[in-house]
Formats: sequence, structure tokens, C-alpha cells
Amino acid sequence: MDHYGVLGNPVAHSRSPAIHARFAELTGQAMDYGRLLVPLDGFSGALRHWMAGGACGCNVTVPFKFEAFRLADSASERAQLAQAANTLKFAGGRVEADNTDGVGLVNDIQVNAGISLAGRDILLLGAGGAAAGVLGPLLAAQPRRLVVANRTHDKAVALVARHASHPSLQQLLLKTELLAQAPQGLRADFDVIVNATASSLSGGETPVDARVLKPGALAYDMMYGAAAQGFAGWARAHGAVPRDGLGMLVEQAAESFEFWRGVRPPSAQVLHELREALA
Ligand code: ATR
Repeated sequence: MDHYGVLGNPVAHSRSPAIHARFAELTGQAMDYGRLLVPLDGFSGALRHWMAGGACGCNVTVPFKFEAFRLADSASERAQLAQAANTLKFAGGRVEADNTDGVGLVNDIQVNAGISLAGRDILLLGAGGAAAGVLGPLLAAQPRRLVVANRTHDKAVALVARHASHPSLQQLLLKTELLAQAPQGLRADFDVIVNATASSLSGGETPVDARVLKPGALAYDMMYGAAAQGFAGWARAHGAVPRDGLGMLVEQAAESFEFWRGVRPPSAQVLHELREALA
């Protein structure tokens, strides 16, 4: 039996153990998947301990994704762009890092929701860790225009600057905006807006004017459950189609699972089951 798990703080709420257990069951993989609450100042020690216990890899969640990236011996290109890792694989005492969040988002939009991002105008709200994890894969989907808007404009500028040599930039426009209630530069229509801010966690309102939305636009929140309801209500009230981040959660897990096991789990089936269980 091979061992995996999720390391974070908090971690009790994590649905990853259930998702990976179901993936393992459906693909016949001999593995288990636990969870470990890591003290806020104790990630490197916890990781060493986890490896010494014979684990083959782990997922990493808030607030340790940046530290996980820094501690790794090698990292995939998408983890380097994000400067953060949500997936670690251990081999011969070395730690290999990946970031599957962005491809999880893109797969949920393009495969599960059936909306192609190629040639679309996308607005990404936020420039923290969640936004950093998805910008590279969103660019790789080749939209026509991608605008990163953040309350603290400098952070959006720094995030975009890190992607300056992304191969997709020859074909598309990547720019930043200051995120404010009615920002001048955002009074255009977007086909897809992705909320990667933490505003809903603090009970705040959607931090952007609804004029950014094209009628029927996809309004995607990386949160799910109660935390995503405010944004979904806002989207619906303004003629957009809301989607929460549950599919992204399952799809990033599927990508991690494949990185560890070399086997693609049936993620759409597991997402369907999870939605039914939560309804
Ligand atoms: P995470 O790793 O979840 O992205 P983070 O790095 O703290 O967390 O980033 C939180 C993001 O939400 C940031 O883009 C933050 O904007 P600032 O960079 O200006 O801090 C954004 N955010 C949080 N609360 C917000 C609010 N009430 N309105 C608008 N943006 C908010």
C-alpha cells in the first residue's frame, strides 16, 4: 500500500481524502490518502517526518503552497510560474513539485462545463496565491485577452511580469488593471471572469462592477459551498452563468493523482458523485 495525504492548516475540512480514495477505488490503485494538520511554523519538519514515514507524495494546501515550492528539489514549469506547489512527489529522498490548480480550473471550464477558452476575453480577479496558480494554464488555453485585476495593483503587475516570456503571449493580450468598483479600463465585456480573490471569505461583496460581464458570461468562483454563494447570486442577478470551484477541486486532484500514479482517474464521474452527495 502506498501512502499519500494532504498537509495544511486548516485541513479538517479538506475533501481531498474522499476524492483520492474514490479515484484509487475506481482505478484499482493500492494506495491510501490521509490528512495532516501542520503547525503554521512547522511545515519543513512535518514534510521531513511525512517522507520518513514512507509516503510517496502529498498535496499541500493553504498556507504552505509557497513554502512547499521553495523546499522542493525540482519543480515543473507551471509550479515555477506560480512560485507555489500543491503537489509533491518523493523519489529517492528528493522532492519533485508540481502545481495542478491551474490545469484543474481549465479542465473544469473546458471539459466539464464545455466552454472553450480559446479566443475568449478573460478577466482574472486577484493576484494572490490562488490567481498565481492559474494564470499560466489560462494563458496556455489561448484566450484573446486576459486582464488581471487586483485591489493592490502592484501585485497584479508583478504576477503578470513573471509570465512575460510565456509562449502564448505572442498571440494574446495580457494586461493588468486596478480592481475598483467601476474601473475605467474594465468597462468592456468579458466572456469569462474568474474570482480568485479572498473577498467572499471575509463576507465581502463581489469586488468588481457588473458591467464587466457579457450577457451569458461564465462567472467562475474558485470557492465552493457557502463561500461561493454571494458571487453566484451576483452573477445570476446580472445575467451571467455562475460556476463554483468544486470541479476545479476534483480536476486538480485528478492531475495530482496522474502525476503520482501515471493513471487518469474518471474525474467527471467523481465530480458528479460529489455534487450529489453535497446537494
Ligand atoms: P490566496 O492564496 O487565497 O490567493 P492571498 O495571497 O492572501 O490568498 O490573496 C488574496 C487575494 O484576494 C488578493 O488578490 C487580495 O487583494 P490584495 O492583493 O489587494 O490584498 C484579494 N482580496 C482579499 N480581500 C479582498 C476584498 N475584500 N476585495 C478585493 N480583493 C480582495
